[in-house]
Amino acid sequence: MANAKKAKMVIDKDFTISQIDERIYGSFIEHLGRAVYGGIYEPNHPLADEQGFRQDVMKLVQELNVPIIRYPGGNMVSAYDWEDGVGPKEARPRRLELAWRTIETNEIGTNEFVSWAKAVNAEVMMAVNLGTRGIDAARNFIEYCNHPGGTYWSDLRQKHGFKEPHKIKTWCLGNEMDGPWQIGHKTAEEYGRLAVETAKAMRLVDPTIELVACGSSNTAMPTFPQWEATTLEHTYDAVDYISLHQYYGNRDNDTANYLAHSLDMEHFIKTIISTCDYIQAKKRSKKKINLSFDEWNVWYHSNESDQKIEPWSIAPPQLEDVYNFEDALLVGTMLLTFLRHADRVKMACMAQLVNVIAPIMTENNGRAWKQTIFYPYAHVSTYGRGVSLQPVVSSPRYDTKDYTDVPYLDSAVVYNEEVKEVTIFAVNRHLEDGLDLTIDVRSFENYHIVEHIVLEHDNMKAVNTAEREEIKPQHNGQSSLQDGVITARIRKASWNVIRLAMKQ
Ligand code: AHR
Repeated sequence: MANAKKAKMVIDKDFTISQIDERIYGSFIEHLGRAVYGGIYEPNHPLADEQGFRQDVMKLVQELNVPIIRYPGGNMVSAYDWEDGVGPKEARPRRLELAWRTIETNEIGTNEFVSWAKAVNAEVMMAVNLGTRGIDAARNFIEYCNHPGGTYWSDLRQKHGFKEPHKIKTWCLGNEMDGPWQIGHKTAEEYGRLAVETAKAMRLVDPTIELVACGSSNTAMPTFPQWEATTLEHTYDAVDYISLHQYYGNRDNDTANYLAHSLDMEHFIKTIISTCDYIQAKKRSKKKINLSFDEWNVWYHSNESDQKIEPWSIAPPQLEDVYNFEDALLVGTMLLTFLRHADRVKMACMAQLVNVIAPIMTENNGRAWKQTIFYPYAHVSTYGRGVSLQPVVSSPRYDTKDYTDVPYLDSAVVYNEEVKEVTIFAVNRHLEDGLDLTIDVRSFENYHIVEHIVLEHDNMKAVNTAEREEIKPQHNGQSSLQDGVITARIRKASWNVIRLAMKQ
């Protein structure tokens, strides 16, 4: 029997970080692999609705409570002609999709995606092409989407069957423009200039929109974080958010180190906050730029098999990572990192949503199921609404190849005053020992424990399949509350959701 280590936490309803913007539970659908075709859309599937959308997939997306979904890319957007995806389907061109080297049929485009997003209760975060195109295409696109009518592009939308404007509020000014792989890759100066002029034109069409400028594609980019500084020098007054993207992998099979990668994410967020605030100071501005972490996840399992995919096929199985239990734990810690930065991270998109590095998998013409990472995402999205509280935590720590002083206990706390509920999210990164955790909750008088949900498995590499859901939450956590103090057992390598509610 392994030894339990001890950890402590104090929670107080006055230790507030910020109201949580629910859009941190966003996701992403790119025209890539089987995300759209065979994922959300499969007209010949027995469960497809009259528009061809898979209802089994819609049900799973709704279970995740996804408030905003980024579209249509990703790398794909940097050579995308939005006009290809609107109007009569039979007239839409088949194109070479250069980012992923596939064939894009354009059967799904803006209007269909907006309809699908509405059906799953999500807003759309739309991206414009600043790779091969620019100001002109972007201003026409926003006129098509958001202008009520009586002009060339808005009338065309109406002719295409959409009388009312889509009123898309959030727009990304390109994608990963710092990356040499990006079609139309730019220097920070070139991008900054193009982004600010595109923003100006888009806002003239619709002043109510919010705009996201491209930040670095990851912390290892040689231009990070100068890219953000230069970009914001140009765009500070014209945009509302700067984007962050980051993926992790356990390539050398060092799980203790892998589970500490959220510390890198934390460093990334802090660096970008400082960069935004430095430019704010330089500009003597009163405005704050917030963070849109609009691509994040684990991505590495499929790297090898993707090399073998033949180019120029339609919707091949690209980026189909099969996630294991340790991935679910890391994803949990990444979500907790957003909650602890709820004052500045206002949007975040798990990349992606279906089949492509996704919490939901499907078979063509077959089943749909939940990957391991589905659960921490669903838990935080469901119970993480309200105010993020700053827990004062004391935990034993460890060192790894890349990190020092990694706390075994990772946590975040959410207080939902409306329904009088408190949720404590906790991960134990220790691979052998449990943690005996005491939580001082005296400021929440008259509360009781509703449940303690646990995700755990003896095999860190266990996965879910269409046949068998090996990793799923159990309602068997051990915690009790007495005299304002919770005593909880946080088992080795586990994800925990301890839910409190006010007694009736
Ligand atoms: O999500 C997969 C890809 O990762 C996106 O297309 C791109 O933006 C990023 O590099």
